[in-house]
Amino acid sequence: GKVVFSGIQPTGVPHLGNYLGALSNWVKLQNTAGPDDKLIFSIVGWHAITLPQQSKELSASRWDMLATLLAVGIDPKRSILFHQDDNRCHTELAWIFNCITPVGKLRRMTTWKARLADSRNANSEEEIDESMLNAGLLTYPVLQAADILAYRATHVPVGEDQVQHLELSREIANTFNRTFVPGRKRFFPLPTADVTPSKRVLSLRDPTSKMSKSSPDLQSRILLTDAPDQITSKLRSAVTDSIAGITYDPINRPGVSNLLTILGACTDKDPADLALELGNRSNAELKSLVIDAVQELFRGPRTEFERLRGEKAYLQQVAKDGADQAKAHSEETLRLVRSFIGLY
Ligand code: TYM
Repeated sequence: GKVVFSGIQPTGVPHLGNYLGALSNWVKLQNTAGPDDKLIFSIVGWHAITLPQQSKELSASRWDMLATLLAVGIDPKRSILFHQDDNRCHTELAWIFNCITPVGKLRRMTTWKARLADSRNANSEEEIDESMLNAGLLTYPVLQAADILAYRATHVPVGEDQVQHLELSREIANTFNRTFVPGRKRFFPLPTADVTPSKRVLSLRDPTSKMSKSSPDLQSRILLTDAPDQITSKLRSAVTDSIAGITYDPINRPGVSNLLTILGACTDKDPADLALELGNRSNAELKSLVIDAVQELFRGPRTEFERLRGEKAYLQQVAKDGADQAKAHSEETLRLVRSFIGLY
């Protein structure tokens, strides 16, 4: 059977990009899994603290994220759902992987380069170089490899921005196998990224960049908890263009194409086919269709989230059961890893 692993940072409510790019696929994989498949989903607190967080907010987000994942349909009877920071196997394996990962490879990660660029922009007066960023940001993808490989996962459902991290995970798995495993056997499988057609949902305000939790413009993203009127106003003000008719052309018409991607994901249709169907309708008419579809998509999860977030005892029980199961699986991996490297 396959072993599916994925994670999400507890840094606020998930947005439409997280949902269409990753979470909807987690649920789909869960609901189509065979009896021999294993599914493991993690809320990755240790990744979240690579950027400064307020402890009160982080702690609230950590529980809200658990409620959100349950609300979108992750079923703790079918999937292992847990907080990464409840299982120290992740940090232990990350340390071991840090010791076989060249710094040069980490410096080439686009996520690292983006952080460097961000801090340059934020401090445009000063000379910023990487000596001012913390080491956790640099080794972030190594911890991600440890998350995945602690369970010897084979499939990782993620959005496009994580594909390069998955490449690194395969390299680390391969290096470990060749260096430490007797007979160079494939102890760690080489995990593959499982990306959805809507792997890159774009910002509603700037459709040349991805929809992201960290953008200061709140109109740029739709949150899973947004009320119907918020969904309406964000989509009404989405940036499009003044070309007549509807066409799917991501290069020249990124705003319209993004709306078609969203509508396609909600209605299980190909965005290019949708464009042909809509033909000479207006952008405003397209927006009305997207508004209806997204309101419908998030109605159930939003209500369920509001109900679940008050069920503290239930959430704690789910987290505890999940952590126990996660530990049982990963401790076996770590026992073998220690013996391969001679630390036992
Ligand atoms: P995170 O928390 O930033 O995002 C969670 C998931 O949402 C996807 N995503 C998007 N997909 C489409 N369009 C967008 N605009 C968009 N924005 C985000 C992300 O690709 C991701 O799948 N490093 C990871 C968390 C992580 C992880 C792991 C993932 C830690 N360990 C192990 C997989 C396996 C991250 O920051 O995701």
